[in-house]
Amino acid sequence: MKRTFSTREIVLGVTGSIAAYKACEIASRLVEFGACVTPVLTRSARELVGPATFEAITGRRAVTAMFERLQDPEIEHIAVAQRANLFLIAPATANILAKAAHGIADDWLSTSLLATRAPVLFAPAMNANMYAHPATQANIETLRRRGCWFVGPDVGRLACGTEGVGRMAEPLAIIEAAAPLVSTRRDLAGKRVLITSGGCREPIDPVRFLGNRSSGKMGRALALEALVRGAGVTVVSGPAAVALPHGVEVVPVETASEMAEATVPRAAEADVVVAAAAVADYRVDKPAAEKRKRSGQPLTLNLTENPDVLAAISANRHQGQVIAGFAAETADLLENARVKLDKKKLDLVVANKVGAPDSGFDSHNVAACIIDNMGNVEDLGIVSKEIVAEQLFDRIAARLA
Ligand code: CTP
Repeated sequence: MKRTFSTREIVLGVTGSIAAYKACEIASRLVEFGACVTPVLTRSARELVGPATFEAITGRRAVTAMFERLQDPEIEHIAVAQRANLFLIAPATANILAKAAHGIADDWLSTSLLATRAPVLFAPAMNANMYAHPATQANIETLRRRGCWFVGPDVGRLACGTEGVGRMAEPLAIIEAAAPLVSTRRDLAGKRVLITSGGCREPIDPVRFLGNRSSGKMGRALALEALVRGAGVTVVSGPAAVALPHGVEVVPVETASEMAEATVPRAAEADVVVAAAAVADYRVDKPAAEKRKRSGQPLTLNLTENPDVLAAISANRHQGQVIAGFAAETADLLENARVKLDKKKLDLVVANKVGAPDSGFDSHNVAACIIDNMGNVEDLGIVSKEIVAEQLFDRIAARLA
């Protein structure tokens, strides 16, 4: 995220929804990632949160009124609109959506929205009926057609005490949706990236399964990195502990056979395939139709080998396609990874150590090495899964170029 947001100019427009307090966290994260944030608070937003908080977080003067400090170049609206790399409106009320859709310019924020040529991302937050109202939906449609971006709203508890669609997306999800819009690394623009992620559940009976410890965190980091670099991203995902980022096409699967069925045909359309899923090597021969009962005897399950998804994809690879896999190993890391690189005819393999407390499935970090089919080996050390994704896509993009 630091690589993406560093020194990027972001106007954070805060409008008068109860979710306005969450904009403080958005500002704080953006600043943490190195962005230069100009906070803008509408009159209604100022009834809910104060400019001093945003000024302390961003180190910049908060814009609160159109004609106040008109001479200050730091907040003069045309200058700010022109230097912005992104206008992020979070929370966005029904009112600002209506004004933006109709070109009404009656305060600093709405005026600057007309003046800017930067991408505009709205994170709507309002009562469910207001969101569902045909007027709001028509305004959103108009703005979408005009090239504006949206993240959320989510379903959940709303400030008015009801449940429904209208809750602002979570701050981190908003920042992730903003990342591709401010990224200067667009080396996968126009490319289709297919990722397998998560684990597998092979049924034993209707209530039990054989599974593995995959969290889906690596697949998630890969998907976000590919999005940020401009790719269209599809993730075929087995069960995972983390949700995939906004903007990804997700194909949910449970078993290895379902993963093969979903992935192999889609791979034909992909420029890049990265297999990060922990695919179950075996499935239970004949899963019981009814829940198994205790018999007082040891239980033997017959297992049948599953298809190798990645090997099937590389057997059908097309010219120019880049294919990468992972080798999760507890021992003989490099040796085992090289065998997989050769056997599955991969361009790149990430060898990662699993089973240690600070590296592997549930962990945020991983001990990783990237090996390519030209004999290069690069030890990344113990790094975050985000860094592994960045490093892997650096190499993939170089091959595509
Ligand atoms: N893989 C796959 N389909 C399988 C097994 C693995 O697509 N049935 C992919 C994984 O997503 C990963 C790579 O192949 O990118 C290596 O997976 P791994 O589980 O480490 O190795 P296996 O091939 O299963 O070999 P082994 O279990 O013997 O180590």
